[in-house]
Amino acid sequence: SGEVPDVAAAWWHEAERDRLLQIAAEATPRYVYHLPTVRHQARELKSLAAVDRLHYAVKANTHPAILAALAEEGFGFECVSPGELKFVLAHVPESAPLLFTPNFAPREDYAWALTTRATVSLDALYPLEHWGELFRGREIVLRVDLGRGLGHHEKVRTGGSGSKFGLPVDQLDDFLHLADAHGVTVRGLHAHLGSGILDDTHWGEVYAQLASLAERIGSVSFIDIGGGLGVPSHPGEARLDIAALDRVLREVKAAYPHYQLWMEPGRYLVADAGVLLAKVTQQKGKGALRYLGLDTGMNSLIRPALYDAWHEIVNLTRLHEPATALYQIVGPICESGDVLGSDRRLPEAAEGDVMLIAQAGAYGKVMSSPYNMRDEAEEIILE
Ligand code: LLP
Repeated sequence: SGEVPDVAAAWWHEAERDRLLQIAAEATPRYVYHLPTVRHQARELKSLAAVDRLHYAVKANTHPAILAALAEEGFGFECVSPGELKFVLAHVPESAPLLFTPNFAPREDYAWALTTRATVSLDALYPLEHWGELFRGREIVLRVDLGRGLGHHEKVRTGGSGSKFGLPVDQLDDFLHLADAHGVTVRGLHAHLGSGILDDTHWGEVYAQLASLAERIGSVSFIDIGGGLGVPSHPGEARLDIAALDRVLREVKAAYPHYQLWMEPGRYLVADAGVLLAKVTQQKGKGALRYLGLDTGMNSLIRPALYDAWHEIVNLTRLHEPATALYQIVGPICESGDVLGSDRRLPEAAEGDVMLIAQAGAYGKVMSSPYNMRDEAEEIILE
């Protein structure tokens, strides 16, 4: 895709820089979301001819303008809690398909979700063993664990014995037996192995495995191969090749044409569309290190602290000045882990400079916290 550069799609780089500086002059910290980038990403995924339905994993970013833009692009919505599902019901048109895929949820979550139009997924024997009457006569999606996980960090790999997700395949017969006993139909088969995956062969393998399980089940009409589509964050990482992914999926589909294919991406749609703006507060030299302090940190963006995630950081005020300083970029939170970026080569900064933390559109604001009672970052939408 020509107009989006390899790392941290830089819509903010020239065209929007003045607007961003003005937004930051009004207040920081602020998240800024660029809807044209969301739409661009959405259209790329819509070019997957093998895929019949796309649900946006709203956990990545729940801003109503983003939900509306994706609804307009024809996306459905995947929700993991009653809170997400209620919010989505209030913000998207009635025609948008909804998926409810919670994990270790209490009985009442399912009871309520079953009163909505959402398709509900199960990933354990327990709900049918203990609350079978709730599901009587229903069609459900079954999430299985294919025995392996993938993703940018061990904490986001959602398959294999170390992970709490999915029904182990060796319990499939027990599940089908219970489903039968309660008049429950397994209409969909689902797997999601993790997040931040840049290997474009992975989804084809999951698809083929699920399709062969579906043949055993008989009642399945759609297969959901999850989300997890990564975006490169480190210089040198290649973008996913969407055309190559489509070829892999089409091959599997040719062997199993009787199933609809669903996907549920989150990050891919919104990561590059969002940036976090913060201002420089203070500097400190300590031993060999130079610390550059910002007015927000792990309270607004916890990904570096939690996953060692790498977010590109630029000094927007001095975008074109030479990078002569080596900084540890830290926030104001009372934890040593409150680091947004280590060893960053940047221009010599001054108090009040506007710093831009890139690729913050996915799992940024939604994972922020009131820790230390610092003000929350506001969210601004750019059309
Ligand atoms: N489907 C299911 C069942 C999921 O659990 C997830 C993400 C997705 C879809 C969407 O995955 P995506 O396409 O966004 O990779 N907080 C972490 C990511 C956690 C992902 C949780 N599940 C991060 O900041 O990297």
